[in-house]
Amino acid sequence: MHILHRRGWEIPESQATPESIYLNRRALLGGAGALAASAILSSSARADTDPTADLYPAKRNEKFTLDRDLTPESNASNYNNFYEYGTDKYIGGRAQLLRTRSWTVKFEGMVEKEMTVGIDDLIRAMPIEERLYRMRCVEAWSMAVPWTGFAMAKLVEYAKPLSSAKYVRMETFLDSSMAPAQRLPFFPWPYVEGLTMAEATNELAFMVTGIYGKPAVKQHGAPLRLVTPWKYGFKGIKSIVRFSFTDQRPKGTWEVLQASEYGFWANVNPQVPHPRWSQASEEDIGTRERRPTLLFNGYGEYVADLYKGAEKEKLYM
Ligand code: MTE
Repeated sequence: MHILHRRGWEIPESQATPESIYLNRRALLGGAGALAASAILSSSARADTDPTADLYPAKRNEKFTLDRDLTPESNASNYNNFYEYGTDKYIGGRAQLLRTRSWTVKFEGMVEKEMTVGIDDLIRAMPIEERLYRMRCVEAWSMAVPWTGFAMAKLVEYAKPLSSAKYVRMETFLDSSMAPAQRLPFFPWPYVEGLTMAEATNELAFMVTGIYGKPAVKQHGAPLRLVTPWKYGFKGIKSIVRFSFTDQRPKGTWEVLQASEYGFWANVNPQVPHPRWSQASEEDIGTRERRPTLLFNGYGEYVADLYKGAEKEKLYM
């Protein structure tokens, strides 16, 4: 595994996490590490062939431009949050345990007809394109990467939700045989996130199947993850197996863990600090430059209208 030294801007885990959860984690992580290591050794050659590999690189949608250089691939894929593989950032090796084929995605709840679809059929039914997006993590680091995938609006259209559906709730896989950290009790597995229907059908909301012109690597949440670049990165749920359409606001994993710090909306705003650190600026994981954070991560022209009339909500945490 690629080991980096802690950088000045990294928030120690003890600060970024409620103390009780942090202490539990520390007690349990030794065991998780050993489990993960032995599982990796016993399945070292478990590379999944991707039957959609011929779709990459996809044509770039030139509408989405960057105000900064792309983050080098080696930085983006060696500094990840994927708690199913541990609470540190260097989970790239451990995430190779994830088996991305065969993989099915379920559409359920307030839809015309519930259905379960194979990931390759789903991807081939969608208009695949590449988009350059900035990403801002709630921990005050950022990157800019070329994602490949399709507009979430197309996925919603495919799912045929009823007009009474107000939200879409998404769930990551639950299988401790390929994510040993899911045996640890402190986290409410599986990882869950949610969006309003208006957010899910906003043109920026993107379902990711690839990155850097290739199928997505496992640490980025293959074979299907969400990217909502105007929100903090924790909304971008990885390795999705279920979309449930509902009229009840879903509670995301981080909201369940610590509602006073992580909410449903989680829109980027430099003027609203996290209770334990400032959100005014961010450090680029590629260049290590610090730059001012932008409202809605610079995507206000696309999304600001979504929140008109909702000003009383905690839109920025
Ligand atoms: N999805 C799942 N299933 N598990 C996770 O731990 N972490 C989130 C999000 N999606 C997470 C997840 C957080 S906190 C961030 S910042 C981004 O994934 C990180 O995405 P990246 O590793 O591709 O940069």
